[in-house]
Amino acid sequence: MNRTSRGDVTLIGHRGCAGQYPENTVAAVERAAPHVDAVEIDVRRCATGELVVFHDAELDRLTDASGPVADADRDELRGLTVHDSGEPIPGLDEALAAAPDDLLVNVELKEPGAASDALDAARRAETDVLFSSFHPEALATLRERDPTTDRALLVADEGVERAVEAATDLGCAAVHPPIDIATESGFVKTAHDAGLTVNAWTAADREDVERLLAAGVDGVVSDRWDLF
Ligand code: G3P
Ligand code: MG
Repeated sequence: MNRTSRGDVTLIGHRGCAGQYPENTVAAVERAAPHVDAVEIDVRRCATGELVVFHDAELDRLTDASGPVADADRDELRGLTVHDSGEPIPGLDEALAAAPDDLLVNVELKEPGAASDALDAARRAETDVLFSSFHPEALATLRERDPTTDRALLVADEGVERAVEAATDLGCAAVHPPIDIATESGFVKTAHDAGLTVNAWTAADREDVERLLAAGVDGVVSDRWDLF
């Protein structure tokens, strides 16, 4: 399996292909990179102000520690590993530095206040970044700072018209719906008619991939790269 055999569909490795590698780690970015067009990583702020790559608000599911990431110092987080992988929780700078030049990184902003620093990190790393967020404020901040940033609105269950309108109002290039919304009749066409790219999340198996390809999405956010 290589990138060209997927045709025009963009494969985005969810949390760095968390079905295959320790999620949201440098190792995941490095190991997924040869097989995908992009990796998606989640970003939030820790207690000492740095942006770290970690999905959950709490440490409990993925580490031996507990409590909010927002209450943990960067040094404390450096001492933790994701499950028993031995892989530490990376800073955003470290994760971006691990991305090869030809890899797009989809940075999901888990907090509205992370947008500006994430943009600075992307510029420092000179990484090609697609920013996404469920928080419209995060995308608005990016647009204000730099209208040329690539932005995607993550949507849940607001219905196609509202999702497309919101993404358009924010000047987004893309909308990121969950599978059940992306495969609803008319979603992809409505988004395409509005000039939006549709990247759907999160494919866990081949059946998910088949459904999304049949619906005509542009990109699939997947936990594994070997489903195609
Ligand atoms: O970006 C798609 C997906 O990552 C959104 O859900 O909870 O896995 O961050 P979540
Ligand atoms: Mg995410």
